[in-house]
Amino acid sequence: MPANPYLPPPVRIEKVTVENAARDLKTFDLAFVNEADRGRFSFLPGQFAFLSIMGVGEAPFGIASAPSEPLVKFTVKRVGSFTTALHELDSGALIGLRGPYGNTYPLDLMSGKDVVIVSGGFSFTTLRSTLVHLRDPARRQDFGKLVCIYGARSPGELLYKDELRAWETRPDISLVLCADSVCGETWPCNEGLVPNILKQVSPASGNAVALVCGPPIMIRYTHPVLEELGFKPEQVFLSLENRMKCGIGKCGRCNIGPKYVCKDGPVFSYAELLKLPSDY
Ligand SMILES: Cc1cc2nc3c(=O)[nH]c(=O)nc-3n(C[C@H](O)[C@H](O)[C@H](O)COP(=O)(O)OP(=O)(O)OC[C@H]3O[C@@H](n4cnc5c(N)ncnc54)[C@H](O)[C@@H]3O)c2cc1C
Ligand code: FES
Repeated sequence: MPANPYLPPPVRIEKVTVENAARDLKTFDLAFVNEADRGRFSFLPGQFAFLSIMGVGEAPFGIASAPSEPLVKFTVKRVGSFTTALHELDSGALIGLRGPYGNTYPLDLMSGKDVVIVSGGFSFTTLRSTLVHLRDPARRQDFGKLVCIYGARSPGELLYKDELRAWETRPDISLVLCADSVCGETWPCNEGLVPNILKQVSPASGNAVALVCGPPIMIRYTHPVLEELGFKPEQVFLSLENRMKCGIGKCGRCNIGPKYVCKDGPVFSYAELLKLPSDY
């Protein structure tokens, strides 16, 4: 950690991708201005970082790129003051990036097992990082089947569409995309809610780990399906997005009972969450 952990190294916006027709979801590909800062930014899938704009403020976001990718990627929904200011910036603008923070998805536990990813809406970000990481030819053989069920309200709200279309045809991953309503579109071909599609796909739970990210309503209806499929609470992992201020366990803004989401999380097993007060 640098001497002043709140000091954000400068990064340059290299590319901005508008992800949906409403234009409230944008992906920012960032490059560190100083090579040494890139070297220090060592992360694994599941971690997050703070983006900052001078004179505006800062906010935490899950890292959507994989560690091996040269640019650091974040997908941001425009919801308030910071995210609106970020959405107004274009390629070439300089912003700050401090982190990485938090824990990672349980890569050691996942080794040798099938990995089942269940995601909805724009929460897919750190799961994209995970999929790119696991599918790297250097480590793909360390994991069993890769099953990913990813849905959104409408086809246009799915993130990373070009990449998903390419992944659908690859033999090393079983990617099932869906939309609550396909709105007459021919892609994706599955119409339905993520928990229902999960039930149809019915991935085996015997030697598997499930990673779940999505809006609270999706998570609520996904758990019973995972249980029905035989997933035990210690086989299911979720990433939380509680409000944060410092990101480094100092301010107490993000805690759930004795746990700091920024330091002990954001990734928790369902077994851990069952022991905590239910205010997550
Ligand atoms: C670990 C972590 C990872 C995250 N990853 C992403 C990501 O990949 N992409 C992304 O778009 N967002 C992500 N978020 C949420 C993001 O941090 C907030 O959307 C952002 O802080 C809002 O800042 P703002 O100034 O634009 O909004 P504000 O002006 O602060 O608030 C605008 C509205 O958003 C609500 N809001 C603010 N923060 C949160 C939050 N944490 N959870 C729910 N509602 C909130 C407020 O209640 C208000 O209604 C993540 C949050 C955490 C803690
Ligand atoms: S955000 Fe400050 S303690 Fe977690």
